[in-house]
Parts: sequence; C-alpha cells; structure tokens
Amino acid sequence: MSNYSIKNLEEYFQLYRKSVREPETFWEEIAEEHFVWRKRWTKVLQWDFSKPEVTWFENAKLNITENCIDRHLHIRGDKTAILFEPNDPKEKAQHITYNELYSRVCKMANVLKDKGVKKGDRVCIYLPMIPELAVSVLACARIGAVHSVVFAGFSAQALSTRINDSDCKMVITSDGSFRGSKTIDLKGIVDLALEECKGVHSVLVAKRINSEVKMKQGRDQWLQPLLDKAKATYTAEVMDAEDPLFILYTSGSTGKPKGMVHSSAGYMVYTAYTFKNIFKYQENDVYWCTADIGWITGHSYIVYGPLANGATTVMFEGVPTYPHYGRFWQIVEKHKVNQFYTAPTAIRALAKESLDYVDKHDLSSLKVLGTVGEPINEEAWHWYNNNIGKHKSPIVDTWWQTETGGIMISPIPYVTPTTPTFATLPFIGVQLALMDEKGEELKGNQVEGRLCIKFPWPSMARTIWGDHKRYFDTYFSAYDNKYFTGDGAKRDAVGYYRITGRVDDVIIVSGHNLGTAPIEDAINEHPAVAESAIVGFPHDIKGNALYGFVILKEIGESRKQENLRKEINQQITEHIGPIAKLDKIQFVPGLPKTRSGKIMRRILRKIASGDTSNLGDISTLLNPEVVEAIIEDAQ
Ligand code: WTA
Repeated sequence: MSNYSIKNLEEYFQLYRKSVREPETFWEEIAEEHFVWRKRWTKVLQWDFSKPEVTWFENAKLNITENCIDRHLHIRGDKTAILFEPNDPKEKAQHITYNELYSRVCKMANVLKDKGVKKGDRVCIYLPMIPELAVSVLACARIGAVHSVVFAGFSAQALSTRINDSDCKMVITSDGSFRGSKTIDLKGIVDLALEECKGVHSVLVAKRINSEVKMKQGRDQWLQPLLDKAKATYTAEVMDAEDPLFILYTSGSTGKPKGMVHSSAGYMVYTAYTFKNIFKYQENDVYWCTADIGWITGHSYIVYGPLANGATTVMFEGVPTYPHYGRFWQIVEKHKVNQFYTAPTAIRALAKESLDYVDKHDLSSLKVLGTVGEPINEEAWHWYNNNIGKHKSPIVDTWWQTETGGIMISPIPYVTPTTPTFATLPFIGVQLALMDEKGEELKGNQVEGRLCIKFPWPSMARTIWGDHKRYFDTYFSAYDNKYFTGDGAKRDAVGYYRITGRVDDVIIVSGHNLGTAPIEDAINEHPAVAESAIVGFPHDIKGNALYGFVILKEIGESRKQENLRKEINQQITEHIGPIAKLDKIQFVPGLPKTRSGKIMRRILRKIASGDTSNLGDISTLLNPEVVEAIIEDAQ
C-alpha cells in the first residue's frame, strides 16, 4: 500500500491510526519516498508546545523549488505547470510549461541576486494574479530569500506596516492591475507606502496595464529588461529544513498584523501530501483554485502543493462576476478543469444569479469541488452540489488557517461520505481536541467547544516574525500543551467536525480575516470620533458584514452624519483596504461596558444581527441604560 494516495475509508482510518501511533515513522516514509533532499534529516520531530518549539526533519537540506520544478523536468518538462487565465476573456490564456517555469524562475532568481538579495533577506511581493507573482515567489525560494506576499487589495498604509515589520529590502510590484472592469494603480500605492519605508532600496516593476508610472531614479526599475538579460539557470540555494520559507500576515486581536513564519521542509511535505489526497489529483488533471496568492490558500494550493505534485495549476487574474456571472463556469469549460476550489462567498454571490450562467457551460470535466475560508451554509452547499457538481463531484469542505499552512479538517473525496456544512474528519496526522469553558478536553461525541490541536503537524507556523512571545500568547497560552485555533467547533454523533466560527475578535468577511482592533484604530483616528466598536452580523453573500458602533465627540446634524459615514469608510480604506469597509455605521451615545471597562461585544453582536430578544443579564454593566438607547436607534 502506498501511503501517498488514500483509496478508501478503511485505509484512511489505518493511516490515521498509524500517524497518531507512530507519527515520526509515518511522516518519515512520506518524506523519503516523495521528495528530493540534498541531505537527510537526523531527527524527524522535536517539539515542546510550552515554548513553543517545533522542528521537523531536523538538519535535512533541500530546496523546495527543486521539488516543485527541477525534478519534474525530465518527465513533465512540456507539461503545463501554470495555466494563466487573464482578467479579460478576450486575452489569450498562457500555458507555462515546467521547462518554461524553470527558466523564468531562474532568470528572476538571477535578477534578485544581482540586486543584492541574499539568503535570509525578506522580499515583499505586491503583485496582482499574474505569472510574475508565482515566479517571484519561487525565485525567492530558489535563492533562499524569505518572501512576504502582501495581497494587492491592501492599502498603502497596510503595505508599509508589513514591509517595515519584516524589514524588507525590496518590493516587487507592477504598474497596475486589472480587476473586472477596473484598473488599479498598484505602483502609486507602493510609492505612497514607501514614503514610510526607509529600508527599501529597490523596487522591481512588472508591466501589466501599460500605464504611466513614476519611476524613482536609483530605486525603481522595470523588471522585463532585467529578465531579458538574465541567465536562465540558477543553482538552487541549499536550505535547512527549518529555514524560513515565507512570512504571511494575518489579522489578530491587536492593531498589528501577525507575520506568520513558515519553514521549508515540513511545509513542503504537508502541502504536497494534502493536495494529492484532498483533491485526488491525477496526472494530466487541470486543477483550479480561485484564491489569490496573496492569501495562504494561494501559497499552499495554487503554488507549492500543486507544483510539488507536478500538477497543472490555473492562475486566474480576474473576478467571478466579470464580464458576467458565468465567468468561472466558462473557464471550467474552456480549460476542462477537474478540481475546482473556491470560497463560500463566491458560491453565494453566483447562486443569486440565473442558472443560465451555469447551464450554458459543459462542466462535465469536474471531479472534485472544494470550499475554504469560512463556514459554508447549507443552501450554498446544496447549490454547489446540485448545479456545479451535479451530484457526482464530492465537495471537500476544507478547514484550515494561515497558521496551519495546510488543510487540517476535510473529507477525502470518494472516500469520506460528506455531510453539508461539515468539514468532517481530521486529515492524517492531525490530532484535534475540543475544550470546554473550564479548559478540560471534551471526550466522546456530540460535544461542542473550542477547537485545539494537541500534536504538531509538519506545516504549522513556527513563530510570529520578530515576536515569539506573541506566538506563544496567541496560540499556546489558552490551554496547556495545545495549539488554540480561535475557532469553535462541534463534533457530531459519528465524530464529524463542524466549524461554528471564530470565538475571538476576528471576523471573517467574504472569507477574509479581519481583526476588529485595526479597524477600530482606523476609525478612532478620525478627528470627530471618540470611540468605536466593530462587530460582525450575518450577510447573505459575504457570510458576515461589519457593523460599527461609533461614539462621536459631538453629535452633529444628520447631513453631517451621512458625510461622516463616508469619511469613516474612507479612513478604513486608507488604513486597511476596501475589504474592511463597514456595511452599517450607527452613531451611539455610549458603548456597553463591563465594570472593568471592557466592551461587551456579545450585546453589540445581538443588536447588529437584529436579535434583541435575549440579551442576557445586562444589570452588571457599567452603563446598562446605553443598551436601550442603542437598540432604539439600531439600523
Ligand atoms: C475560517 C484560510 C469554516 C476559520 C485557509 C479559520 C473556515 C479562518 C473554513 C482562517 C471552513 C477556514 N469552515 N471556517 N472550511 N476554512 N475557516 O487564515 O475561522 O485566512 O480560523 O486561512 O477561516 O482563515 P485564514
């Protein structure tokens, strides 16, 4: 039996038991058989969650790009590695073969090296979904530089915070980006951001929209002429298993984003193994994940996981609704996509439109459908199953996080029977625990609690860049010897998991994690605002939308209030990006607080969702009278 491809439920249980009983043997066999190493490890796993310190494949040497590119060249050199589908359907798709990817990555690696980027240096990548993005990521990995991709929808301020936090020396960007019918001036955003980033010496600019941009002499250079001159080979840097591969920022409960640091070997082994099994990838399949590489889903399941398996991975530049609501299905038909992985928010948006957009297209190539990023509601699940999968393609509802690096809970298609809204069973090697309020582990089935992981897995983040203490405090301090996810979950009668959502101050809007603190900080900077609190409320398409309760320094007339609403959203757009804009803003005389001064978000959440029937005991509040006033004015 090859453990690399799980064939039936019995085999899943067998492997799962082995992965728990003998984790080191289990992962060692996978690592040995399916990857190329420059040097073998001396110890498979060392760990101590009380610090926390985790190392996988200690002392092994490798380069992840040799596993994602070089080793495929003699068997799949002419196979498409990246299939680029542009924003505009009239523009030709690009089939980038493994041979071409090799030379593009090597050229880029040479350019980076020439610009003085060294092993261990951080490079910020702020690019739209164009091939240069994947190429830059892989080129950094090839020379051992640590990439920090910042989603190209973030504002200048969010970008500069991230560049400075990890002390990036270089930024790779483009003149602009296409998004549906719009173009976005990315270089302008970078210029603004760099006013605050004194450490950046070099900016490489890819040409995408052919706009006029300002190039700062001595700092900015067009990328293509440099690539044209560069050599098409580059000997990969030999990396240690635990050398950082990348930093990726995620929101937290304070204003400062957390730079999650992922290592090389464990990340590679786990993303490759999960990709193979959770999408049942077969040679010659065309796999498409609609995420952006600016998020972890794109890192693990557009770039590294698929390429480590020699897959054909689609990179889509555009949006699901442009030029029409059938764009996704048109692409599935055009490229005969076999595995399709998207977010519930996209499914909900498309499900609202006429089925004609779907029915026009031949979707018979599809074999596996996936979702990620937020809980999928029952209605969306059925729409996806009925109309896209036509009841023949299993849906893998995959639960995981930026911090986990790879998928942690998911059905295995054609193996695990699915149940709508359930992510079902832990993946091989993943040891889950549900904890109660008192910090005890809930044993048995039909229980609900806080979701923890009690044993290391290879692709877990190793630290928060520059702040290991925060890593411990955020994830390992709530429960002894356990990683706390920040999510709540139920385990049903058969042991299936259903994620119930965040139990902390993170709100998931359209699949994007937004911390309340950074948004509140942005609002509070407005001169008219005294204080604010943000909560999530249910939204048909976005899953959650944001509701802001804002105390003004002076209550103005209503016309002024309308302007203020716009200004507050403008403020948020500048600080974070348009994804964090508020759907509703209510000006309130006060915020319900405990006697120790903590905002009672639970009450605000109820008011925001229009459910004020059972607010619980509010008599212990410092200011119970304020609750009445807020309810009266609620929107
Ligand atoms: C949520 C995305 C329910 C969850 C890969 C998690 C989900 C957060 C699911 C991480 C799912 C992700 N069902 N909730 N299938 N997948 N989540 O870091 O709250 O962007 O903690 O990683 O998304 O979001 P992140």
